[in-house]
Amino acid sequence: MTTTKKFQITNAATGTSSELEALSPTLGSDVLNLAPLQKDQGVFTYDPGFMNTAACESKITYIDGDKGVLLYRGYPVDQLAEKSSFLEVSYLLIYGELPDKIQLDAFQNSIMRHTMINESLLRFYNGFHYDAHPMAQVSAVIASMAAFYHDSLDIHNPRHREIFAHRMIAKIPTIAAAAYKHSLGQPFIYPRNDLPYTANLLNMFFAVPCEEFHLEPVAVQALDLLLILHADHEQNASTSTVRLAGSTGTNPYAAISAGVAALWGPAHGGANEAVLAMLEEIGTVDNIPKFLARVKDKQDNTRLMGFGHRVYKNFDPRAKIIRETCHKVLTKLGRGDNPLLELALKLEEIALHDDYFVSRKLYPNVDFYSGIIYSALGIPRNMFTVMFAIARTAGWVAHWQEMIADPTMKIGRPRQLYTGPVQRDYADIASR
Ligand code: CMC
Repeated sequence: MTTTKKFQITNAATGTSSELEALSPTLGSDVLNLAPLQKDQGVFTYDPGFMNTAACESKITYIDGDKGVLLYRGYPVDQLAEKSSFLEVSYLLIYGELPDKIQLDAFQNSIMRHTMINESLLRFYNGFHYDAHPMAQVSAVIASMAAFYHDSLDIHNPRHREIFAHRMIAKIPTIAAAAYKHSLGQPFIYPRNDLPYTANLLNMFFAVPCEEFHLEPVAVQALDLLLILHADHEQNASTSTVRLAGSTGTNPYAAISAGVAALWGPAHGGANEAVLAMLEEIGTVDNIPKFLARVKDKQDNTRLMGFGHRVYKNFDPRAKIIRETCHKVLTKLGRGDNPLLELALKLEEIALHDDYFVSRKLYPNVDFYSGIIYSALGIPRNMFTVMFAIARTAGWVAHWQEMIADPTMKIGRPRQLYTGPVQRDYADIASR
């Protein structure tokens, strides 16, 4: 990180000045270091929603929102989507480089040897009603994992951190599948370490003990692609939550569980579930204008789910890839005539020609089409955000590792613009 430009900020009332440095990233806009402002001028900065604030330094993922570019460790996501696999991408995110054959084999081997969860953890699911949302189950079970791995919870020990990273990526499909099987009342299917990561995930979801289950290669490939596309997205709300929780020195399972909770919201990962609900609510193409009128009405709280993004002000590159893949996957799965896909395509076309969306630079995001593929794979709507969580675990783990390994790490502790009452004296109840 280099410093290129200097800025001067002058307090108009006192005439005192502060010199601020702009830090130069390898890609993207310069970042003004505001840290001296409080010491020099006695003021904080105010930036609700972190619209304009870089909260950390990171080498993992880069987004150019105007050009619709997404890079994992410098590699364009479309190249990784075409040529790589989810586990290779996970290695890249965590270790910073693409693995050679020996490194990849060792990583895959380690991941596939950590897939089982403690039998006691499995019993936790019985405490949930069959209709408990799987995100509630998944975040609770992940939070509980710290109770099982006392041998490797020293966050200052790099080997312990690595074991955690492998465990987390290995076990998240098992945890997710257990939640799904619990909702169905079906027996839990143990992981199969002879299967590749994504095939094992589908097997745990859809196999039953009473008959043979045939994995569809096209389903495995489609899901692996979705996992790659969702694996990381720099300082999004859930990753920032993992960093903030982790910055307190809490155990990493607690930090990941906090990330799962943050992902659940419909403005973030929960949007994939909300998109499908929206498409089903719209129903047919002739209802689109009525629905869009509601979206544009500021008195109505309806949003076009799967549209808009804080950073992308052009096409989300992930949405582009998923959209292109949708038709291919559905056709190969024998579901070529998909009314929801037809509806989504029409909705996108109308919205992209509507001044409301054009003027606000609102484009389809990753969640607009992903649910259609998940549905075609047989994954129910309430599991969509869980699939997102499985993928994003790789990113969360990479960010947590990067933060903890940084010797300059500080606890995350934002300040506030206080607008409450000034100091006042306690009044006895009789005099209120
Ligand atoms: N439908 C209708 N209007 C929208 C939408 C939308 N989906 N998104 C933004 N707007 C409008 C918003 O009303 C505002 O209009 P105005 O300037 O008249 O007040 C303007 O666009 C700016 O919106 P904002 O809410 O200030 O933008 P933001 O950067 O704070 O929010 C967002 C980003 C993703 C939360 C938002 O676009 C949204 O709610 N989208 C729908 C939910 C969604 O698809 N989320 C998934 C995001 S991608 C995957 C992920 O990150 O997990």
